[in-house]
Amino acid sequence: MADSSSVTKAVIPAAGLGTRFLPATKATPKEMLPIVDKPAIQYVVEEAVAAGLDDVLLITGRSKRSIEDHFDRAYELEEALAAKDNTDGLAQVRESAELATVHYVRQGEPRGLGHAVLCAARHVGNEPFAVLLGDDLIDPRDPLLTRMIEVRERFGGSVVALMEVPAEQVSLYGCAAIEPTDEDDVVTITDLVEKPVPGSAPSRWIIIGRYVCDPKIFDVLRQTPPGRGGEIQLTDALKVLAGDPSSGGVYGVLFRGRRYDTGNKLDYLRTLVVFASERPDLAQEFVPWLRAFLESRP
Ligand code: UTP
Repeated sequence: MADSSSVTKAVIPAAGLGTRFLPATKATPKEMLPIVDKPAIQYVVEEAVAAGLDDVLLITGRSKRSIEDHFDRAYELEEALAAKDNTDGLAQVRESAELATVHYVRQGEPRGLGHAVLCAARHVGNEPFAVLLGDDLIDPRDPLLTRMIEVRERFGGSVVALMEVPAEQVSLYGCAAIEPTDEDDVVTITDLVEKPVPGSAPSRWIIIGRYVCDPKIFDVLRQTPPGRGGEIQLTDALKVLAGDPSSGGVYGVLFRGRRYDTGNKLDYLRTLVVFASERPDLAQEFVPWLRAFLESRP
């Protein structure tokens, strides 16, 4: 049954080690890597704000300073830009500091995404909340999170975002067993399987980095033992909720929009090309250059 309490808080885990991006991530969180000229995590905070969530909790780890500085005022830089009458630069520098009320909690050790989410328990309290992975971007033209919040309001429980991938890729992800509901883009999740053995996947729908969680997830996470890779997995806790109707269950929103992964090198490069190609100030020169570059390749 639907719970009337509304979603107002966003939790953005950004405390992972980012090992797939070393050495860039030795002293910089991968969520701070720029997509053209804006750190990936700023797009994610903008998405939360666009969905009406302006209370944002960032879960940070080592080298958290650059994230905190990015969402704070930068008085010396602002003075220097003002002295040079650089109004565009000044607006850009201020924008990230004025986006939302940003809070921070430190995850002492990167013990997994589930553990990172558990670090939010005190701040979130007994309310449903959104989780947005800081290295996963959703195109603002495809407002997934808004839809997920609507689904939570109608169905209750927890809500995950699902995308369909080719059968041969399912074993790389967390995969959902699903049943239809009376809404075309909403399914009931009956089971979740992390990285299924090829051929054994229950569907081709994989979990992507957006969640709306019922606060019951915290109790489950407290009891969730480390799983794959010795990490406490959020998927394992959601699987428990999916099997327990008294928890409100877990629903999936079938997302067919544009998503950009920035957490590994190849997808990061793809994301850069897409964003640069769509930027009015860059596309006119970048796209013909890219075309000529590719034509010049053997
Ligand atoms: P990933 O598994 O993609 O991030 O976690 P990672 O561990 O940093 O990456 P690799 O595999 O070493 O390259 C998904 C999200 O969860 C966060 C990450 O920062 C990322 O945004 N995370 C992961 C945490 O906040 N804490 C953790 O303990 C693990």
